[in-house]
Amino acid sequence: MIAKPKGTVDITGSDAILWEYVNSVVATMCSAYNYEFIRTPIFEASELFHRSVGESSDIVKKETYDFQDKGGRNITLRPEGTAGVVRSYIENKLYASPDIKKYYYNGTMYRYERPQKGRLREFTQFGVEVLGGSDPIIDAEVISLQYRILEALHIGNLQVNINSLGDNESRDNYKNALVKYLEPHINDLCEDCRERFKTNPLRILDCKVDKDSDILKNAPKTIDYLNKESKERFDTVLKYLGLLDIDYEVNPNIVRGLDYYDHTVFEIVSLDNEETKANVLGGGGRYNKLIKELDGPESYGIGFACGMDRVVDTLKEIELYKDVKKDIECYVMYVSEEEKLYALDITQNLRLNGIVTETNNLNKALKGQFKEADRLNAKYLIILNNEDLQKGLVNVKDNRTKEEEKVDIDELTEYIIGNL
Ligand code: HAM
Repeated sequence: MIAKPKGTVDITGSDAILWEYVNSVVATMCSAYNYEFIRTPIFEASELFHRSVGESSDIVKKETYDFQDKGGRNITLRPEGTAGVVRSYIENKLYASPDIKKYYYNGTMYRYERPQKGRLREFTQFGVEVLGGSDPIIDAEVISLQYRILEALHIGNLQVNINSLGDNESRDNYKNALVKYLEPHINDLCEDCRERFKTNPLRILDCKVDKDSDILKNAPKTIDYLNKESKERFDTVLKYLGLLDIDYEVNPNIVRGLDYYDHTVFEIVSLDNEETKANVLGGGGRYNKLIKELDGPESYGIGFACGMDRVVDTLKEIELYKDVKKDIECYVMYVSEEEKLYALDITQNLRLNGIVTETNNLNKALKGQFKEADRLNAKYLIILNNEDLQKGLVNVKDNRTKEEEKVDIDELTEYIIGNL
């Protein structure tokens, strides 16, 4: 038997139903907020991630799936969605629009991590990116959309943890303060952190090994190094979030593991659940320098991404989603070959009218068909027999009340729709 690769999952049964459901809520909510769907490639030139997510990030240093294709090109399976969307924005000159561009996406991402609950090597994110505007109203919209999607899924006790990294000047001031603070402690940190100290000291703050050490807990906080403009901007974002009734907490420890952020950064958790508190459901932030750094024009961006696998795991713990199953509406039953021809046609007709319908696909005897219809929780049984069919009639049995009625074949669809 060939097993699936480590860190991947098969989504089947009730998990698959929840996935479809989450996807539909995401699409409905994003379109209400006027976001367009975007799909970008699962693999991109490796350079894209080196230059966006960052050489010194854990993702690029340790976790990417890299290979050379048959033409000798360096290719990477995308570890996240933002870089591809920004690449597309630049390459397709989508910035030429006088309006901001608002995209949502949904797809698999790849990171070579140590697999554990909520941490996979192939996982799925849904997310949004808004490009071309930097007003704080956009930050508030993106954060509230993420919050409202999870709320619409009935995930309780949501909290947005938010912080600001500020603009270039604020970040530089902070970096200097951090380096000064860390210098005397550097030999007490892990080997990776000693390396990060030379390349990108900010990355030390999201080190998985040292993150709970007193050294990092007592490190200076970005929020204390914001210049006036950045501070005002952050306060405005918070004001708008308050106005939109979003539960947030300013958490100065959030720096995020990707290099492209500036200003607003955030993560969302459900306080209902110890596990999800540790495993954030989603995160994001503003990236006002990234578009230029990827050879695009001076422009601005912000977005979020949620881990689909973590969202579905969380839903599975909510009473509402226990024993979720897809019931069918009609089961078409027949025995003879002549009845089968009618069954084919009637089944198709019901399906084309949006009625979830199944029929006897294994040439079962009537008894077996009744059992299957019960397993599928069919609401109506359409029982065909030659005698009635000759008169243009079918037997319709309400499988809940067990009442049976003869219905004209031509009126069957309306009859079912009227009674569902
Ligand atoms: P991220 O924080 O790296 O941000 O990932 C976002 C979410 O993806 C996480 O909160 C988590 O739910 C999920 N996730 C990440 N890694 C894994 C994994 N190994 N297994 C399962 N789920 C995982 C980003 O990816 C940014 N691109 C978000 C963003 C969009 N920033 C701006 N725009």
